Amino acid sequence: MNIPMSRRLQTLAAFFWIYLILFGEALSIYLFIQLVYSRFWWAGILYGVWMLNDIEICNRGGRASEWVRNWTWWYCLRDYFPIKLVKTVDLDPSKNYLFACFPHGVLSLGAFGNFCTNATGFQKLFPGMTCHLITLGGHFLVPFFRDLALALGVCSSSQESLMHLLDSQKYQGNCASMIIGGAAEALDAHPKEYKVILSRRKGFIRVAMKTGASLVPVFSFGETDLFHPPSNPENSLLRRVQEKVRQLTGVSPMFPLGRGVFQYSYGVLPIRSPVTTVVGAPLEVKKNLEPTSEEIDAVHAEFSERLATLFETEKVKYLKYHEEAKLVVT
Ligand SMILES: *[C@@H]1O[C@H](CO)[C@@H](O)[C@H](O)[C@H]1NC(C)=O
Ligand SMILES: *[C@@H]1O[C@H](CO)[C@@H](O)[C@H](O)[C@H]1NC(C)=O
Repeated sequence: MNIPMSRRLQTLAAFFWIYLILFGEALSIYLFIQLVYSRFWWAGILYGVWMLNDIEICNRGGRASEWVRNWTWWYCLRDYFPIKLVKTVDLDPSKNYLFACFPHGVLSLGAFGNFCTNATGFQKLFPGMTCHLITLGGHFLVPFFRDLALALGVCSSSQESLMHLLDSQKYQGNCASMIIGGAAEALDAHPKEYKVILSRRKGFIRVAMKTGASLVPVFSFGETDLFHPPSNPENSLLRRVQEKVRQLTGVSPMFPLGRGVFQYSYGVLPIRSPVTTVVGAPLEVKKNLEPTSEEIDAVHAEFSERLATLFETEKVKYLKYHEEAKLVVT
């Protein structure tokens, strides 16, 4: 096969990434148990004690490692699709921002590439700013896996964690990137479809108001094109099973069907298709420690409008099928 080395490395990077995301946590738990029952049980115990002592770090700004965020792995992963980061305006590094990211897609590759790594040039585009991807706190309970997540700058989605990251007395130039629709939105990820969950999501507005952080609409074009999961319309049997599991566990059972390493018909490798994450203009939010629900609704309405405008004005540049691409907000 006449495929250049660089493309093979990109495929390898995507292959390892997908296995990390799908099986990394189970493997970490397995390795930890093996360690505790091995000759080196004391190392397992020491790690366990250290981890318990360190358990709150995901609510206190995390522990990003610029070295890990700059691994070559991420540069190869970026080039596989490629993943790109685009800004529409400069951000002021003396302020903090809440990046409200859409859509979740199957596995949020755009958010990962742009906000967990330095490969797409976040530091260059936004000098003086630091970025933290936000995820469910449960991931930080998994031994070893949590250390990688923390090194990539990831923090917990708890209220405490967000209030800390966006606290203007503690930080300047912090960005907390939240995927607002979360696991529920992942179930609606199908190629060329952009169905996002926003109408009932108000918690992030409240956090922005309480901290005075500006709200930034962020949209990843092409994120839903990376996999073609089986069709699961509302009320289908598959969908009902998926919703049930999500309600019980918080995790959506998904079928990341893409391509294989050596063939293109089936497998869990994402499809090689570009993802462009566009960072919109910030919506200034007045600090308000006790926002009323009317005040929250007003900011929510303004933000929803900004997101729709961002989608409409930018889709032409990044989607070949922009004429049929519609943002559906639920
Ligand atoms: C980060 O990685 C890039 C690309 O591999 C390299 O050019 C750059 O020097 C690295 N930065 C640091 C501080 O090592
Ligand atoms: C981040 O990437 C830029 C290139 O975009 C590179 O110059 C810089 O050294 C990297 N930073 C770190 C800390 O590795």
